[in-house]
Amino acid sequence: MSATVVIGAQWGDEAKGKLVHVLGSQADVVVRYSGGNNAGHTVVTDGQEYKFHLLPVGILHPLTTSIIGSGMVVCPKELLKELDETRKKQPELGKLLISPAAHVVFPYHRLLDKLEEEARGSNRIGTTERGIGPAYQDKIARIGIRMGEFVQPELFPARLKEVLSVKNQILKVYGSEPFDYNEILNEYSQYASQLAKYVQDTDPIIQDAVEANDKVLFEGAQGSFLDIDAGTYPYVTSSHPTSAGACLGTGIGPRAIGHVLGVCKAYTTRVGAGPFPTELLDDVGETIRQVGHEFGTTTGRPRRCGWLDLVQLRQSCRLNSITGLVLTRLDVLSGLSEVKAAVEYSSPRGNVHSIPMNLHDFAQVSPVYKSFEGWDQDLRSARKLSDLPPAARNYMKFIEEFTKTPIAVLSIGPDRDETIVIHENLIW
Ligand code: IMP
Repeated sequence: MSATVVIGAQWGDEAKGKLVHVLGSQADVVVRYSGGNNAGHTVVTDGQEYKFHLLPVGILHPLTTSIIGSGMVVCPKELLKELDETRKKQPELGKLLISPAAHVVFPYHRLLDKLEEEARGSNRIGTTERGIGPAYQDKIARIGIRMGEFVQPELFPARLKEVLSVKNQILKVYGSEPFDYNEILNEYSQYASQLAKYVQDTDPIIQDAVEANDKVLFEGAQGSFLDIDAGTYPYVTSSHPTSAGACLGTGIGPRAIGHVLGVCKAYTTRVGAGPFPTELLDDVGETIRQVGHEFGTTTGRPRRCGWLDLVQLRQSCRLNSITGLVLTRLDVLSGLSEVKAAVEYSSPRGNVHSIPMNLHDFAQVSPVYKSFEGWDQDLRSARKLSDLPPAARNYMKFIEEFTKTPIAVLSIGPDRDETIVIHENLIW
């Protein structure tokens, strides 16, 4: 089976960009299945830097088909901008297809995202304010406008009228100015006419590719614990970044998936609000932030940093059926005299071994750490496991034993060759 899902195993920003870029260059089809332009990763190749928020990475490869799946929400303005910027750097792009079932993000979604955050006061989620939550709200409420109707000039005006009349009523409640129907219609009809050629039923294309044993890469966005159901609700995004999302957002079933690669950092980061048991508010946390350049690609916000949470990672392996871990940023920990990882939580109700699903219980846990000897060597020149200092290898071995999951790939720097593939057979 040559279908591989790449997911973020923690709270997002696990440095998936390099891996999906490398695998994207080997794939026949690359599919994004959840989220929208709240995601972001940077790819550096042939001296050019690309910042992707919506486009699947396969777009850089002329022979690869890139698909925006039905589970996504798409801001047409942002997508066209991204296509334009990418084409300026690389004129020959791969084929792009957009599922007619993907939902469209409109300006009222972005404004509502901001207004809802303000209304939450001190309980703000810390969203990216890209309108993602409100677009998924419309999807679940069954009033969203999907790509399939958006690109049909005989359907879009009536749908927009219907939805905008509801949205303007809601904006009134927030004391905000209504949107002008004609203005949105004129602007967005232009985007629709430019995107129409990409919209086509994508589910059968993905199903055929899986059946033909083509290499299909499902490119996850965000991280497992931002999943609307499995994550640390309500401090989550509104979609399914878990491996299950690859089925829900593309039209395949679970047995079509061969491998699930769970990308995780050698430490933990989180953007936005919500409990984070292993967060470091001291100098060590600041060192990790600076050395690891832990600032958001989409919003530029400093990321919260902390020790690796193995309770979370083990849960992620179970939740996503991870077949191989991709451990990133081990190089960032070089120079620390001691490295720690949480192996259980203590709580007022006793010790716990998984993330409590109830937020109030989760907010009360404290990490119980296992301590590891640190290492001084710069790891970036290592090209095989035996090049790593014994202390780093010992840390990796414990991660594998604790999660009962092998580390398939190790990343020790941003460049493509700063990668050690440990188990090639766990990739495709
Ligand atoms: P939203 O997805 O904009 O609604 O934001 C909801 C939560 O998910 C916030 O805590 C965001 O910081 C977080 N989030 C959304 N996208 C990403 C991502 O790509 N990486 C990390 N955190 C994210």
